[in-house]
Amino acid sequence: LKEYQGVSPISKAFSLKEGADATVRGWVYRTRSSGGVVFATLRDATGVIQVTVKKGAVSDTQFKDAERALIESSVVVEGKIKDDKRAPGGKELAVTAFKLIHAAEVFPITRDQSPEFLLDVRHLWLRSQHLTNVMKARHWIVHYLREFFDENGFYELAPPMITKAGCEGGSTLFEVDYFGEKAFLTQSGQLYNEAFITALERVFILAPSFRAEKSRTTKHLTEYWHLEEEAAWFDNDDNMRLQEEMVSFVCQTLARKQGGLLAKFRKPEELLVVEPPFPRLSYDDAAKKLKKAGLKFEWGDDFGSPHEDALTRDLDKPLFVYNWPRRSKPFYMAEASDGKHVLNADLLAPRGHGEIIGGSEREWDYARLVKRMKEDKLDFKNYEWYLDLRRYGSVPHSGFGLGIERLVKWMLNLEHIRDAVPFPRVINRAYP
Ligand code: 4AD
Ligand code: MG
Repeated sequence: LKEYQGVSPISKAFSLKEGADATVRGWVYRTRSSGGVVFATLRDATGVIQVTVKKGAVSDTQFKDAERALIESSVVVEGKIKDDKRAPGGKELAVTAFKLIHAAEVFPITRDQSPEFLLDVRHLWLRSQHLTNVMKARHWIVHYLREFFDENGFYELAPPMITKAGCEGGSTLFEVDYFGEKAFLTQSGQLYNEAFITALERVFILAPSFRAEKSRTTKHLTEYWHLEEEAAWFDNDDNMRLQEEMVSFVCQTLARKQGGLLAKFRKPEELLVVEPPFPRLSYDDAAKKLKKAGLKFEWGDDFGSPHEDALTRDLDKPLFVYNWPRRSKPFYMAEASDGKHVLNADLLAPRGHGEIIGGSEREWDYARLVKRMKEDKLDFKNYEWYLDLRRYGSVPHSGFGLGIERLVKWMLNLEHIRDAVPFPRVINRAYP
């Protein structure tokens, strides 16, 4: 791509030798002046460089501009590269021309501000080095996930976001007034994925899902990005194998190809050990373990943070907890032969980061599915189309859903899920 009026990204300046001319553009990251010299650092998407503007080395107007260029002002500077061991990256730019593109107002973000304030000015806080690095890593994580599916013969498809068919229970549905009729924002594209598999066999979608989560936790958003896979002729074991291959691929590839970026969050070696097979624990054994550890837990309960933490605290790789009690899971999961469990698995990230994937074999028999839907009191008129999939060439199949922000939170070892997404949506926030 052609560069705007011959200026370069900051990274290019770092490839130049001492004495070379460079013209870079960016935003003032830090600045101070003393004794007729302005010492500033500039940042752009590619890096941070130190620049010095000396009185006399540029015109008087330009020097005045350099002095009044507050943090976040946008500038274009021309100068000579100088090696300097103390400067970040070992180089600085001795400025010969300073062009102030836009003089910023006093930037509202300073040190030690409250998390709530930083969320109010999220559109500005996204410029911070931390969030810039998170968003770069998120880009690569999504990129490698797509690459994995591409290489394994999956088609990416587009499901609807407005639906009448809830997928994960009524309590977290966002209702939409659809021209006087009741509809919902999608909780999951799974049911639509199941429609695609009879045509394309192996499919995935990457789209937002919405959950009216009334709890405030470090793991829940009300709007998140959901990667959902579905494949014909896959049983629950095939499904788990696909998940561990996918998660390992994205960990290995990020650690190998983006090691420098990953090192800003954790030691890349910690993700290099993530390789198949992942440990597997049946729900019943997990329940015993939790009780033995003295946690409050009854067979049939869902896991909360303390349970997930107890099971994964010492792990380096994610853990599958498989075959959950039928009554704790949604209607579409295939029943195990004992009638009490389902053929499913939740994948829990190491060290208490929580559930990153939920998946299962699907109930593909018409009569059994109808029985389950009646038990759950679903409104059949909204699911007739879904039942059709069991009327015309039904096949065994399985699939899963991965929360992108949950994966990013674990892979980058973030404290809170809100930092894994640019503009987090949580119970008390839909701004900015
Ligand atoms: O376990 P869940 O609810 O499963 C489903 O929605 C299935 N229909 C998916 C499928 O089989 N196609 O959600 C799947 C994943 C969870 O494991 C978690 O990673 C993420 O979605 N997730 C959330 N992420 C952020 N905030 C929330 N409120 C989330 N709820 C679920
Ligand atoms: Mg789940």
